[in-house]
Amino acid sequence: MSARYKRRREEVEDEEDDLSLFMKEVEEDGMKADTFIPAKQRRLEERMEVEERKEEKKRQIALARVDGDEKALLEASKDEEDMIQTLLDENEDLKEKRKMIDVRKLKVDQQKVDEESLLREANQVQTNALRSKTELAQGTIYTESLTTSWTPPWYITELSPERDISLRKKWHILVEGEDIPPPIKSFREMKLPPQLLDGLKEKGITRPTPIQVQGLPVILSGRDMVGIAFTGSGKTLTFALPIIMFAMEEEMKMPLQPGEGPIGIILCPARELATQTYEVINFFCDALSKRGASSNSNEEDNFPTTTTTTTFPRINTLLCIGGNSRAEQVDYIRGNPIHIIVATPGRLKDFIQSKKVRLNLCKYLVLDEGDRMLDLGFDEEVQAIVGGFTRQRQTLLFSATMPKKFQDFAKSTLVKPCVVNVGRAGAANLDVVQEVEYVKKEAKIVYLLECLQKSPPPVVIFCEKKGDVEDIHEYLVLKGVQVVSIHGSKSQDERNEAIRLFKSAQKDVLIATDIAAKGLDFPDIQHVINFDMPAEIENYVHRIGRTGRCGKTGVATTFINKDVEESTLLDLKHLLIEAEQRVPPVLQALEDPDEDLVNVNGTVGCAFCGGLGHRITECPKKDKDARDLAQGRRDFISGSGGYGGDW
Ligand SMILES: Nc1ncnc2c1ncn2[C@@H]1O[C@H](COP(=O)(O)OP(=O)(O)OP(=O)(O)O)[C@@H](O)[C@H]1O
Ligand SMILES: [Mg+2]
Repeated sequence: MSARYKRRREEVEDEEDDLSLFMKEVEEDGMKADTFIPAKQRRLEERMEVEERKEEKKRQIALARVDGDEKALLEASKDEEDMIQTLLDENEDLKEKRKMIDVRKLKVDQQKVDEESLLREANQVQTNALRSKTELAQGTIYTESLTTSWTPPWYITELSPERDISLRKKWHILVEGEDIPPPIKSFREMKLPPQLLDGLKEKGITRPTPIQVQGLPVILSGRDMVGIAFTGSGKTLTFALPIIMFAMEEEMKMPLQPGEGPIGIILCPARELATQTYEVINFFCDALSKRGASSNSNEEDNFPTTTTTTTFPRINTLLCIGGNSRAEQVDYIRGNPIHIIVATPGRLKDFIQSKKVRLNLCKYLVLDEGDRMLDLGFDEEVQAIVGGFTRQRQTLLFSATMPKKFQDFAKSTLVKPCVVNVGRAGAANLDVVQEVEYVKKEAKIVYLLECLQKSPPPVVIFCEKKGDVEDIHEYLVLKGVQVVSIHGSKSQDERNEAIRLFKSAQKDVLIATDIAAKGLDFPDIQHVINFDMPAEIENYVHRIGRTGRCGKTGVATTFINKDVEESTLLDLKHLLIEAEQRVPPVLQALEDPDEDLVNVNGTVGCAFCGGLGHRITECPKKDKDARDLAQGRRDFISGSGGYGGDW
């Protein structure tokens, strides 16, 4: 048989083989369509296929050698090399991928360990802030919540737990804790006295906001609570109304004598905020002691309408802040029963330590802007106040920002706490349109004037430094703008006057340091301008939250430039993305080194300061606190956010 004939026959046989193989595959595919083949088996089959192909090539090479067919030999050898090369490449790729996965896994694992240990360290700083020295010395630990005479309406307690779950879902309320009281949709069903309902109506408030829907039943039940909800969402009334009701109940049971009290304390980080909260409480105390109220509130609920002529006794509230006359405050305490004290920590600590105020009857403690109150600098003041308690109290923390470290601390210190969360802690209010503009340092003041044209008044301008507040004030006065300003070095009278003029719309623009960033509720602010970006993203969230309050909308413009730390810019970038705001190109261009560590240990962002653009391991605030602690500078309050010793 000639070599040529032999080769032709083999080719025909090969073709026949290919055909029968093809037919077999078609048949098998038909079977595969409804047969599940495990991945392991599939890989095995693929490997066998590759092996078969390799064998086939080897056979072809051997044949070509026998036949002396150089061209066929070259082709077959090249195919085999390609095949080996492809397999080698695949193997390399696989190795590379595996290496990357391993590196990422290692990075995440290491991050977990680092974060846990840093968080433990951070928590130790504040460990004792909410326990009195006697409790610590005697090792007293309370295990049961306080009880109150308040209960939810019977028909709500009888409803299924699914009703609570679906109501919370509808209102975007997240809760943590044991036996959470049910959410309640109307003030009347919360059993507020008709006088308070009338007071609410007078303020145009007819329905509770989500934090009130869940927070009021929790507090009225006597439970410790951490309340987290975005700026302008009605947190003040959530703690103010129950404290007024509790004080009233105590007064009706056993009237206080002059010099006695308080029943409850509300602590705030700034004098202006304390003054505002005092005014809110006083308004409702006045409403409560009005005669002949009737609960004809326009809430659409089925709760039976009660008309009442019950007259309640007067509830006295003391505003206890630095800057106001100490002697006058002492006189007021001596001459009156005090039911509620609204205070900044410095002055109250002084009164407690000098025994002007005793806490033997005090059962309620509220830390408004709770994360700030437990922050370095304030925590010792708070501890000194808590040291005056001689009994168990109901402790309530409220804020729009509450980094994980404070939540963990509260969970471990409070008694069976309920955490009530509306939205992510630290998220910006979605009713604020956030604009960020790159403005060079030297151009800022001129551009500010242009920026003021963007909206009608009232406008608030924030900056970190007192000197900048003064400079801007001077410049805007020269330009004919109706402007007032406040910062920590101004006298209290000047500060009060500035706030009065701005609130009453006699002045269009308020320039302030961060003493005005938290909690202040000016009516209808149209525009917040951040003349500089605050170093801590929490302050940014609070600052822009002075506009867009309680359902209204507002605009915030922030100037950034190369002076701003990159980690702060990254936090800002992520906050804008979260709130679906426009991200300017300069922020878009920022690289994100921690992108693959977004949700380590179940914590989104930094557990220390709440920033979304970095992890606790890179937190600039943590490093700054550590430096201050190492230098024994615990008693500074001025360092953070321009407070300037403002307490
Ligand atoms: N249920 C309600 N319905 C309508 N308005 C309300 C309601 N509750 C409170 N408000 C009003 O909303 C405004 C903002 O409330 P509040 O100051 O308590 O906000 P906040 O949550 O404490 O904000 P911040 O985080 O800035 O301190 C106030 O003017 C208040 O009177
Ligand atoms: Mg508030």
